[in-house]
Amino acid sequence: MVSRVIPVDPFDLVIFGGTGDLAQRKILPALFRRYCAGQWPDEAQIIAAARGELDRAGFHQMVSESLHQHVPNRSQNAEALSGFLQRVDYVRLDALTDEGWSTLAGKLGRDRVRAFYFSVGPRLFGPLAERIKAHGLANLQTRIVVEKPFGHDLDSARALNATLAAHFAEGQIYRIDHYLGKETVQNLMAVRFGNMLFEPLWNSQYVDHIQITVAETVGIDGREDYYERAGAMRDMVQNHLMQLLCLIAMEPPAKFDPDAVRDEKLKVIRALDRVEPHHIVRGQFSGGPEGPGYRDVVDNPRSTTESYVALRAHISNWRWAGTPFYLRTGKRLVARSSVINVLFKDAPHSIFGEEAGRHANALSIRLQPNEGITLKVTIKEPGQGGMRLVDVPLDMSFAEALGPESQDPPDAYERLVMDVIRGNQTLFMRGDEVEAAWAWTDPVIAGWQARGDVPKPYDSGSTGPGDAELLMKRDGRHWQGIKP
Ligand code: BG6
Repeated sequence: MVSRVIPVDPFDLVIFGGTGDLAQRKILPALFRRYCAGQWPDEAQIIAAARGELDRAGFHQMVSESLHQHVPNRSQNAEALSGFLQRVDYVRLDALTDEGWSTLAGKLGRDRVRAFYFSVGPRLFGPLAERIKAHGLANLQTRIVVEKPFGHDLDSARALNATLAAHFAEGQIYRIDHYLGKETVQNLMAVRFGNMLFEPLWNSQYVDHIQITVAETVGIDGREDYYERAGAMRDMVQNHLMQLLCLIAMEPPAKFDPDAVRDEKLKVIRALDRVEPHHIVRGQFSGGPEGPGYRDVVDNPRSTTESYVALRAHISNWRWAGTPFYLRTGKRLVARSSVINVLFKDAPHSIFGEEAGRHANALSIRLQPNEGITLKVTIKEPGQGGMRLVDVPLDMSFAEALGPESQDPPDAYERLVMDVIRGNQTLFMRGDEVEAAWAWTDPVIAGWQARGDVPKPYDSGSTGPGDAELLMKRDGRHWQGIKP
């Protein structure tokens, strides 16, 4: 299946922090792949801005090396690289002084989309926004892009929103949560709202509970300082897991448009109950044959930062009252696996008697890796006398069903950066959404701090702390396995 590439309008994309890790590892490779796909018009250009003493040639050298490292071999192409670099420029600029700003102004084209990507720490958001305005760089088609972490708690997120709002309208601000750019995460909406099959059953009358798992094998190497201050609750739950929860639980928006979708997501976050302390388990990986434990990695023998969280959430609204949502995420677990399991209730009455056993349908949506959907259905066990029942999977692997191209979908950043240029905010978080998510997360973290909570140790390469199993067991349920 060949997907259509729809070219975007001419644009200038300025990347502040253009020599930084995110720009080199994610943003520029994503732009290169979209360039190779033919999505750029001829006039488009990228201008990286940073404080480093580099000239254009030096920056090109840096970008070539990064692309070599971060673009898959199959997308490497010397001719395309040279064409791409012709459209990449570099400006030496200081966010905190006026140095470099007039040079930048001189490079910007007229009457075209102007996107400013703030690939820098949040303390520079204000100074950058101010100087963009002061130097007259904002035009009618100006957009700014900011990354997570968007704040550290509700107060800091509010302050950041206020800083940005002082210079730009909400319709110009693109807050990235890269999970929303993942092809299969968007598929959640397609599965729910493109099929008649699921939506009538998508409520507490038929759904027993929902599990959202984002398991990672990676640790926190290279990001120790940030992670030690953040922990899994801030790093993953407040944003990525929250977004998945919203997409699974929200009411059907009237249209697939930015405000319609984001209004519905916001309602879900606002309907979340406060998490009870006994409905949450924190963990921290310990050392073993596979590597050092968390405390050694961060070089803090008393660290109480969690690298794992499992919790039970409740959405108090008509659709979901009574159906728990179990969320878990952790580092250094047994496998990399992001999956959403929707576990349906048992049939109300078994006409086959006790010996047929109890059976319930389950829908698994695998987000990564091995993207696909499995529906567990109950059938008669073949060849057996009497009516014995057995569960079998109706398994749809997207790679098998849609061909090899589906195995190489655009990376989340490719999709999101092109959406910025197109001016489509549907897959970006609105300011009120981010604040509502912090308002739900903050009391949990404050509770841990007040109680002096210490995370439970778990072995690297395991499925997490034993208490997470207990969280489920107490409810007569169990986690679905974490499979690669
Ligand atoms: C980032 C977190 O936002 O998402 C990381 O800061 C995490 O800690 C990463 O590893 C996971 O993203 P992905 O795309 O690899 O699932």
